Amino acid sequence: MREEARIADVLEALTLEEKASLLSGGGAWETAAVERLGIESAVLTDGPHGVRRQADAEHFSLDASMPATCFPTAAALGSSWDVGLLTEVGEALGAESRAAGVAVLLGPGVNIKRTPLCGRNFEYLSEDPVISGQLGAALVRGIQSRGVGASVKHFAANNQETGRMQISSEADERTLREIYLAGFEHVVTTAAPWTVMASYNKVNGVHAAQNRWLLTRVLREEWGFDGLVMSDWGAVWDPVAAVAAGLDLEMPATGGASAARLVDAVKAGRLEEAVIDQAVTRLLTLLDRATAAPEPAGEADFARHHALARRAATESAVLLKNEDAILPLDPAARMTLAVIGEFARTPKFQGAGSSQVNATRVDSALDAIRDLAGERLQMSFSPGFLLSGEGDPALLAEAVSAAAAADTAAVFLGLPDGADTEGSDRQHIDLPDVQIRLLRAVAEVNRNVVVVLANGGVVQVATWERHARAILEGWLNGQAGGGAIADLLFGRANPCGRLAETIPLRLQDTPAYLNFPGDGAVVSYGERFYVGYRYYDAKDIPVSYPFGHGLSYTAFAYSGLAAAVDGEGEEAVVRLELTVTNTGPVAGKEVVQVYVGDVASSVDRPVRELKAFAKVEIAPAQSARLSFELRARDLSFFSSVHGRWVLEGGDFEVSVGGSSRDLPLTATVTVPAPALATPLTLASTIGEWLAHPTAGPVLLQAIRAMPGSALGSDPTVLRMVESLPLGHLIPMTGGRLDITGIGQFLDQANSETG
Ligand code: BGC
Repeated sequence: MREEARIADVLEALTLEEKASLLSGGGAWETAAVERLGIESAVLTDGPHGVRRQADAEHFSLDASMPATCFPTAAALGSSWDVGLLTEVGEALGAESRAAGVAVLLGPGVNIKRTPLCGRNFEYLSEDPVISGQLGAALVRGIQSRGVGASVKHFAANNQETGRMQISSEADERTLREIYLAGFEHVVTTAAPWTVMASYNKVNGVHAAQNRWLLTRVLREEWGFDGLVMSDWGAVWDPVAAVAAGLDLEMPATGGASAARLVDAVKAGRLEEAVIDQAVTRLLTLLDRATAAPEPAGEADFARHHALARRAATESAVLLKNEDAILPLDPAARMTLAVIGEFARTPKFQGAGSSQVNATRVDSALDAIRDLAGERLQMSFSPGFLLSGEGDPALLAEAVSAAAAADTAAVFLGLPDGADTEGSDRQHIDLPDVQIRLLRAVAEVNRNVVVVLANGGVVQVATWERHARAILEGWLNGQAGGGAIADLLFGRANPCGRLAETIPLRLQDTPAYLNFPGDGAVVSYGERFYVGYRYYDAKDIPVSYPFGHGLSYTAFAYSGLAAAVDGEGEEAVVRLELTVTNTGPVAGKEVVQVYVGDVASSVDRPVRELKAFAKVEIAPAQSARLSFELRARDLSFFSSVHGRWVLEGGDFEVSVGGSSRDLPLTATVTVPAPALATPLTLASTIGEWLAHPTAGPVLLQAIRAMPGSALGSDPTVLRMVESLPLGHLIPMTGGRLDITGIGQFLDQANSETG
């Protein structure tokens, strides 16, 4: 590591012009260099699920990049709920980055899936911040363990592609803190990413890359982020405002224009040079970190990474439905299997845009099924439809006759090109008509239909799922996904993915339906923190498959929940223990999910929220005893009134199970915490004053002491004035309400307010 003092020397030696030049890119994919002082550029590369290293780092292009392993996309990885696995994927991404000379990999993406329509949902992990945060942190730890920086993106509230460069995401602070910032917060505070990428959109009216509240107040001052903030590519409108707000690096290069504006601003006294120095120091620190890697870069082990990609895809697939245990198929059985759907032969394994990887190889499910099938298993393949989305009567007829002649039909369906993409959102969540027609026709001639899905954003299944006895949601599962699907279909692997995003019955049911995508200038997050299952559960509306759902070829039973509370207030810890037993025939993995709901709260809160989870492998007839600890923050809400996280003492319902709507174990715990006092002013209402633990009784006494007033004697009258600010009541009583020393009263009340 270059000494801090050494960085200070370099800073000292740089001219203002050189310093300013370092704060924007030196090319499309690299930082600027200052040859005179031996400051070299560092390469920044997409991300997030594979290394998209362009041979020409100077010029912007999305053309074919150097071969790299295409791991499952975040939509898949998020469904693995497997922290260890994501660490391993991160390590492999880090190793490939190092081998390719990359200093910072641009990922992971931890934005919340606010609406299923977001074109980039395939690059994001979940609708829930605990999953996004924990899995995002695992990826960061893995990447950085190889001496490569991660760039957590897109900070923040970048939840749609429509109008992404101009739109202002308008959300109240509580919604931001509890949903849209919480995942970033977890990554920053537990995994110390080298960089954070500021997003294109505005947050409450201010561009994220120029948003001081976001980049300095929250990210650095509150969360203690000590790394570098870079902009998304082209996200800076005003480089001076950006640097002043806490941005350190504008990407990509601007041909010197931004540097010139920074220099002018310093010379004109509009920007302090110290602010530039701070950003340059952070850039030099990043370069330092990049050159102080713990181990020498070697060749990437593509064969090993391909095997890891296959395992990751296996862990991520979600078995949504499996009537009469139609799956797994027996590869040694004497049977005929009709494999139908072009996606079986031409895998759909990643989305489009900046994350597109030039895969080292691609395995098709069709080949993998052939490899696994025993000698007595007869197989046919019919594409069924054209990838262009057009129906072809001959292909349809061929598929139907193959299905009619088979014992089982495995039908591969998925989203067409252009649905899972950066730069635009979907208009609907349906599979193409041509595919649904194919499925219906196949189901008419064969009862044993298994559907395998390939999609990044969720698709609506309600209108067609009756045609399938099993549905395996494979997601966009990377270059080795084909092998994973074959393993799962034939029971060589046991499905263990769980939905990290609810599958709604219909688009109209989704939380942001009326607010998305806004009017081009503003998108209101009017549904507030009721995102994903928080919304469906609050409204108690049916969904196709709930958050957390996923079947296995075995079964699990839950028992013996013990819950105990230690400490109080901020020190409170809820300790849980429970037993999970594999009651089925084969080994399998269960994702044990812990949800918490506040039984009685002074504010509106979700019915339950995921707070902890663990994936555990259990052999048949064996049990595992698991323990979890919940901390004060897991029980708290973000209070807009207090401007901080607040734990209200009282009862909390803790529920544990295998999905957000299958929670066999429940316990109520009582967590003690000091009474929550609201800061009082003369503008506070009578009701707020009366609710205050110490000021309330004093005021009540004064009211009761008012001579001849119904206010003191009739509770109904008192309730009527509860919404009146105290400052208004005093003159209205004509001086009869005697609160002498009101100043001291206020001071005393407020000194007790945390
Ligand atoms: C994307 C980022 C990406 C960057 C560089 C932008 O368009 O939003 O996710 O890292 O381009 O390719």
